[in-house]
Amino acid sequence: MQHINNQDLTHLNTFHIEVKAKDFYIVENESELPRLFHELKKHNAKPLILGGGSNILFTDNPQIPIIQFITKRIKILEKYPDYDLVQAEAGIKWDDLVRWSVENNYYGLVNLSYIPGTVGAAPVQNIGAYGQEAGNFIHSVKIYNIEQQRFQTLSQEQCSFGYRSSIFKTSLKGKAIITSVIFRLPKQKHFDLSYKDLRILQDSPLLSLWLLRLTIGKIRMSKLPDPSIIGNAGSFFKNPIIPTDQLSALQQRFPQIPHYQMPRQKVKIPAGWLIDQLGLKGYRHGNAGVYENNALVLVNHGNATGEEILELAKIIQDKVKEKFDILLEPEVNII
Ligand code: EPU
Repeated sequence: MQHINNQDLTHLNTFHIEVKAKDFYIVENESELPRLFHELKKHNAKPLILGGGSNILFTDNPQIPIIQFITKRIKILEKYPDYDLVQAEAGIKWDDLVRWSVENNYYGLVNLSYIPGTVGAAPVQNIGAYGQEAGNFIHSVKIYNIEQQRFQTLSQEQCSFGYRSSIFKTSLKGKAIITSVIFRLPKQKHFDLSYKDLRILQDSPLLSLWLLRLTIGKIRMSKLPDPSIIGNAGSFFKNPIIPTDQLSALQQRFPQIPHYQMPRQKVKIPAGWLIDQLGLKGYRHGNAGVYENNALVLVNHGNATGEEILELAKIIQDKVKEKFDILLEPEVNII
């Protein structure tokens, strides 16, 4: 384990906000956690685990300790005719795991290709894209329970996965550290082409895991800015889920409003569409802005502060509330 004072986080958050962490810990092995938490408890310090820094907005220099995992192993635990159980450590880059799964002919994770972040961060907000969510393939999650000072395994059910949510964002928030994730990876040939832009592949004789991965890469490139070129954290807001009654009322005024059916008489509305209707694509607030090709993505045009991005988010929330009577909730973690 390493302890670094005043660690620059500019390149450890994809918004590239220039902040420094007073106390930064690099964990190389989960066995180091009991000692680290014993130490932090003495100082009454509640830490933050930083994954790929791709879903976080720093509004100031964090005073709390920041922990980063650099554990990297992938291990096949059990083999079955239809699937294998594969354990991946928290520090692995999410897309390294996806590429590994494609190389080894597993079906499922491929739709989640090129999502930035780490394996350990994936279950927290149950990352999702192109018709799939990580939680669909998670068998169990290994954690270190900070309060109880012990390692535990949570089953998929115990994780309570939902749209961009899990137990790690609710009752276990700040109380558990994900050390590794066990995936149930299907071996039977099956492609999920339900997302509209993927349907063109349905009749392709060349359809393969690699072609699907390539296609997803192209779609992402057209809709999402590359954080190495322009700072951003993907979708800034969650897609709001509203009652069908409210949709009917909105349809009177906006007949074209896109919506996806959800359980229990609810519908999901694309936040990007709502923001786009306000003509905000390309809008700027100081050095912060709305991405010109996708209204759901806020960007750092260079030297933006976290506060500036947060102010822009508030402007958008107010305008959406005023026009549609819908409150957009941030998807990124604001620290
Ligand atoms: N739309 C607009 N204008 C915009 C953006 C979107 O009209 O500026 C409309 C699109 O035309 C489409 C609808 O909104 O009808 C949905 O857009 P899209 O398919 O691009 O997906 P999304 O709902 O904006 C979600 C996820 C993304 C994920 C994509 C693809 C959330 C908050 N975001 O975006 O996840 O990649 O679906 O599955 O659920 C992320 O979480 O960071 C992320 C990028």
